Amino acid sequence: MRILSGIQPSGQLHIGNYFGMMRPMIANLDRSELYAFIVDLHALTSVHDRAALAQGTLNAAADFLALGLDPERCVFWVQSDVPEVTELTWVLSTLTPMGLLERCHSYKDKTAKGIAPSHGLFSYPVLMAADILLYQAERVPVGKDQKQHLEVARDIAIKFNSTFGETFVLPEPVIDDAVATVPGLDGQKMSKSYGNTIPIFTDAKTLKKRVMAIVTDSTPVEEPKDPDKCNLYNIYKLFAPADRLGEVRDLYLNGGAMYGKIKLELVDILWEYFREARERQQHLLAASDHLRAVLKSGAEKARARAIPNLALVRERVGLAY
Ligand code: ADP
Ligand code: TRP
Repeated sequence: MRILSGIQPSGQLHIGNYFGMMRPMIANLDRSELYAFIVDLHALTSVHDRAALAQGTLNAAADFLALGLDPERCVFWVQSDVPEVTELTWVLSTLTPMGLLERCHSYKDKTAKGIAPSHGLFSYPVLMAADILLYQAERVPVGKDQKQHLEVARDIAIKFNSTFGETFVLPEPVIDDAVATVPGLDGQKMSKSYGNTIPIFTDAKTLKKRVMAIVTDSTPVEEPKDPDKCNLYNIYKLFAPADRLGEVRDLYLNGGAMYGKIKLELVDILWEYFREARERQQHLLAASDHLRAVLKSGAEKARARAIPNLALVRERVGLAY
């Protein structure tokens, strides 16, 4: 099974990214042929600060490796180091109906949040389709917000195959219902672009500040509450040990759940949960030349796969004469 997924280096990675994409990718290290990459070309649709993009790319690499992605057991690279993807994007864009892109929620959501409505942002799903099809990926672990983009990738693959003959494998999303949309501090989807995240790696003070800022209602402590409707509970349940989670659930249902206390407990649980990874991440960040070497060697492996696939596409469409 060939599994592939990418992540944008457009800001600090957060626990939504961890559950939606990073954790399922790492869990598949030994079970499949794994392709993990940092999509800096996609991040260019929202980041126009040279230093921020370059540093963000190294940070994302350090984060992913620190969490357990072993570059010896997968292909791990930076999207722009494989230029073949942009050529495939162009070929695919000539087959992509405008209506397909016009229906995408993510363009509307992002422009509504203030990201400039550029052509790159509009055609973002075509580059993503090229990312997936270039490596003939079969499964793509993502959060629910990417489901529509996977459908676009499939539609484009079907269109290509029917126009030029069977070429691309049709990719399928892998979405874990339990963590399909991790809520942010305000209850909306946690997202780098919404400023409502709990970062995976941060200092103790910031972590505490973020957790204390989780929005809760003003129901009195002694009154019963529905845990499943509580934003704090929905984040807490991702990390709490099962027995303690049961106790807290009972407090919600029967009265006595104190939000402040649960938040402080969550701060401690989170701090411990990522402790070892945090130490590794600090070492990796201090060794940026090592990180670059890992990424460059990953890009060579990725290109070895991309080049013959692109050659096939060139031949199918008539760009090889
Ligand atoms: P962001 O929305 O924070 O910019 P990305 O678009 O870079 O995150 O997403 C990277 C991966 O993490 C994608 O697979 C995406 O679906 C997943 N992801 C992002 N936010 C969440 C979330 N709140 N819950 C679950 N998965 C998420
Ligand atoms: N669009 C994805 C996101 O915002 C990132 C991404 C780019 C991706 N290319 C991909 C995810 C290919 C999976 C496969 O999260």
